[in-house]
Amino acid sequence: MKILHTKAEIGEEINRLKSKGLSVGLVPTMGALHQGHLSLISQSKQNANITVASIFVNPTQFDNKDDLLNYPKPIEKDIQKLESIGCDVLFNPEASEMYADNEIWNYEVGDLDTKLEGELRPGHYKGVTQIVYKLFDIIKPDIAFFGQKDYQQFLVISKMVKDFDLNIKLQLCEIVREPDGLAMSSRNVRLNEEERHASIILHKALLYIEQNYLNLSLVELKNNAEKFFDGNALLKLEYIRICDKTTLNELNKKQAGGAIVLVACYVGKVRLIDNIIIA
Ligand code: PAJ
Repeated sequence: MKILHTKAEIGEEINRLKSKGLSVGLVPTMGALHQGHLSLISQSKQNANITVASIFVNPTQFDNKDDLLNYPKPIEKDIQKLESIGCDVLFNPEASEMYADNEIWNYEVGDLDTKLEGELRPGHYKGVTQIVYKLFDIIKPDIAFFGQKDYQQFLVISKMVKDFDLNIKLQLCEIVREPDGLAMSSRNVRLNEEERHASIILHKALLYIEQNYLNLSLVELKNNAEKFFDGNALLKLEYIRICDKTTLNELNKKQAGGAIVLVACYVGKVRLIDNIIIA
């Protein structure tokens, strides 16, 4: 695997690959790689000639300083994982390579920025679009892979691709889970044993809604699912909502075409998100 750190190096490598007529798949990540990330790499390997992964803990998308400071950075282990799965190129820049001082990014994320993660993490999607736009511009992928785990992020990036008329195909990839149902996340390593045990409630609440979707009203489903989070001092539920899959507006009646249920919850100091699509 080639490991490149500067825009000039990766730009040159991409030109070389493209001049040979090879297609490029991009998997943007912030590292601390787990099976969820690696599943995106596998999908890229199946759909493109060359797979480029990026690892960059993007400061502009963190609305919480502690979260940025505590974000795990096991780069040597990450490199081993990428090598073992057959990733072709790793782009791993420093922050100074990606950002000039006082840089301005004026992209208007729009309606999606006013709800769920957008509402609770002000500026988060501005930072995400800022870095993903740069990565798209530098790496010029034919196709880029994103996880359903961050479903709202996928919608935001899809809109950005449309708004800028970028000629990039996006692929949404399934959520990879631990055997007990917890969605894999780089933040899971920060959970202590008790918190790790408590964290399975997110998936349980989502499954409850999925399994009872046809039999109960939306209000009953939501109220009952919220009760899953009661009575455990480690859990602080931020939201559990049944929404339209494209607008993420909360549904007030069931509709053809299904729904998505999204949840965000603090487990101790760690904020976890998850979701499930109801067909
Ligand atoms: P990060 O959280 O590292 O996630 C990188 C990609 O892996 C995202 O597309 C995310 O949805 C996907 N992913 C995470 N957990 C997953 C799981 N359990 N199963 C399947 N896919 C999973 O998302 C980001 O980084 C950043 O916002 C980024 C897009 C890189 C911009 O900085």
